[in-house]
Amino acid sequence: ISKEVSIMRKAHEFACEYFHHLLLHTEEGENALNYLEERGFSKELIEKYKIGWSLPNWDALTTLLERKGMDLQEIEKTGLIIRKENELKYFDRFRERIMFPVSDESGNVIAFSGRILTKNENEAKYLNSPESPIFQKSQVLYNLDKARLDIRKQRNVVVFEGFLDVIAASKAGITNGVATMGTALTSQHITKLNRLTSNVTLCYDGDKAGMEAAKRAATSLQAQNIQTEVAIIPDAMDPDDYIKNFGEDAFRTKIIEKPHSFLSFMMIVSKRDKNFNNENDTLQYIQEILEILSERNSSVERDLYIRQLSQETNVSEEAIYQHLRKIQGNIA
Ligand code: UTP
Ligand code: MN
Ligand code: MN
Ligand code: MN
Ligand code: MN
Repeated sequence: ISKEVSIMRKAHEFACEYFHHLLLHTEEGENALNYLEERGFSKELIEKYKIGWSLPNWDALTTLLERKGMDLQEIEKTGLIIRKENELKYFDRFRERIMFPVSDESGNVIAFSGRILTKNENEAKYLNSPESPIFQKSQVLYNLDKARLDIRKQRNVVVFEGFLDVIAASKAGITNGVATMGTALTSQHITKLNRLTSNVTLCYDGDKAGMEAAKRAATSLQAQNIQTEVAIIPDAMDPDDYIKNFGEDAFRTKIIEKPHSFLSFMMIVSKRDKNFNNENDTLQYIQEILEILSERNSSVERDLYIRQLSQETNVSEEAIYQHLRKIQGNIA
């Protein structure tokens, strides 16, 4: 590795230890520690994921890095510190936030995400490191370093929307979980996963935004020939909320171990805002599902889902088949 990268890694490693120490062993970290414990994060979990806390001071970390004689100009390229306008002075990007280190596949800390303690309208809930020579969001999957072996062994990876859900799920024994860093699941992410397994379980937040994101992720996964299933969290909760409300066993046995096929997931999502006593809703539902079915070449699958569509909507199987042929005719 280049000297540049080595300096950047060293600074992140140091910052990670520093934030972690502040959270666990100082008075300044007490509020954050209480917050985490209230949310169900044990000391063990805090240790495992090296969670930390950053001080409210403008330059607490910068001062320490400087005192260690580290090259601030290089470190600035990672966004960990920010340069003041028209001055050769720097200040900390992360202040007064719960710090979650993000690692590369080999376990080197390459970025952070900082959560605000109490949500407010003026600041983002999570502040992330910017793109840098050591951090590319379109490539990085949170927890891949720790999960890699288990993904191979279990021949499956669970992809979550939030990295906090990865941590919460690990309490339920889900050790093959990863998350993107607030971005969509890219083809580079998928290529990475595909080297380890060709089976993905998506477990996104149960709200509308999460379900829409799951649709897009599932579609990209299938385009790269990955067997995709979707675990659905009820009532707009996310995995972390669900575990808090119903416990770890329920999360494992009722959610993760009972995923839906892609098509049945699409049917569930599409059905949510529709009323089959309404003709337009019914037509739209059938149209949406048939558009997906028309791209499949398994006649068994077609038969199965068309029967289900017919039962749900009270439209005859024959009429649905006819409509499917019409859609296929339009495509061809
Ligand atoms: P969520 O809003 O679902 O976060 O965003 P969460 O994991 O449930 O967090 P809590 O429970 O409120 O603490 C999912 C992901 O989107 C990105 C983060 O990567 C987060 O894990 N995100 C969200 C941001 O980058 N910035 C934000 O302000 C919010
Ligand atoms: Mn420690
Ligand atoms: Mn969300
Ligand atoms: Mn969430
Ligand atoms: Mn959450």
